[in-house]
Amino acid sequence: MRTPVIAGNWKLFKTIAEATSLVNDLKPLVSGTAGVEIVVAPVFTALSRVAEASAGSNIRLAAQDCFWEEEGAFTGEVAPKLLKDAGCSHVIIGHSERRQYFGETDESVNKKVKAAIGAGLTAIVCVGETLAEREADKTFAVIETQVRGGLADITAESLKQVVIAYEPVWAIGTGKTASDAQAQEVHAFIRCLVAKLLGQPSADAVRILYGGSVKPDNVKGLMAQADIDGALVGGASLKADSFAAIVNYAG
Ligand code: PGA
Repeated sequence: MRTPVIAGNWKLFKTIAEATSLVNDLKPLVSGTAGVEIVVAPVFTALSRVAEASAGSNIRLAAQDCFWEEEGAFTGEVAPKLLKDAGCSHVIIGHSERRQYFGETDESVNKKVKAAIGAGLTAIVCVGETLAEREADKTFAVIETQVRGGLADITAESLKQVVIAYEPVWAIGTGKTASDAQAQEVHAFIRCLVAKLLGQPSADAVRILYGGSVKPDNVKGLMAQADIDGALVGGASLKADSFAAIVNYAG
């Protein structure tokens, strides 16, 4: 009953020409794919051109971050409504690389999530523990803090515009995926937490994606888990054939 989401996070890769050519290569490979929400997240400068290239297709567009104010003297920032203007339907918020390198906190994530929802975007909110936190048995505590903080003041109604992505930091870009069972355990924990915060119907409806070294050869096992509703894909989303193989995991 939950439509899976497969999202490609292109991070800081690809010029406008490379990004448009990737989406053009991807289109025919996924045009027959039904029942999967397909999202790609290019860099800001490529968004509007990728939006043009993907218009009329089943590929949706995400930005990789946004600011929380609508406009003003905020040099260098991009507002959710401008992302919408560029053709985005989604925005990734709180990716671990932003938390690690750019001082993103649960408070800033929460402000951005609220602003994104207000602008009519779907927020893909990322959470995940580091290796040190996992080894210190703090995984659930860390995830709980991030989910509670990131989703503070979000209502059951606005949660419809939220997708949660569980991305263990130790699995991102390392080729080291969480096992199906390790991922499922955290996904089930997050769903339970959402039920506590916003009620069972919200928990049943919210999509929880797994991210961290998702590849064509491990996506099937992950997607077979009861609480895994999709994937946030970095490295393997940079090539049309590997991303399409992930999108088409079911076929
Ligand atoms: P990866 O990245 O698939 O390259 O591990 C995932 C992500 O950072 O979203």
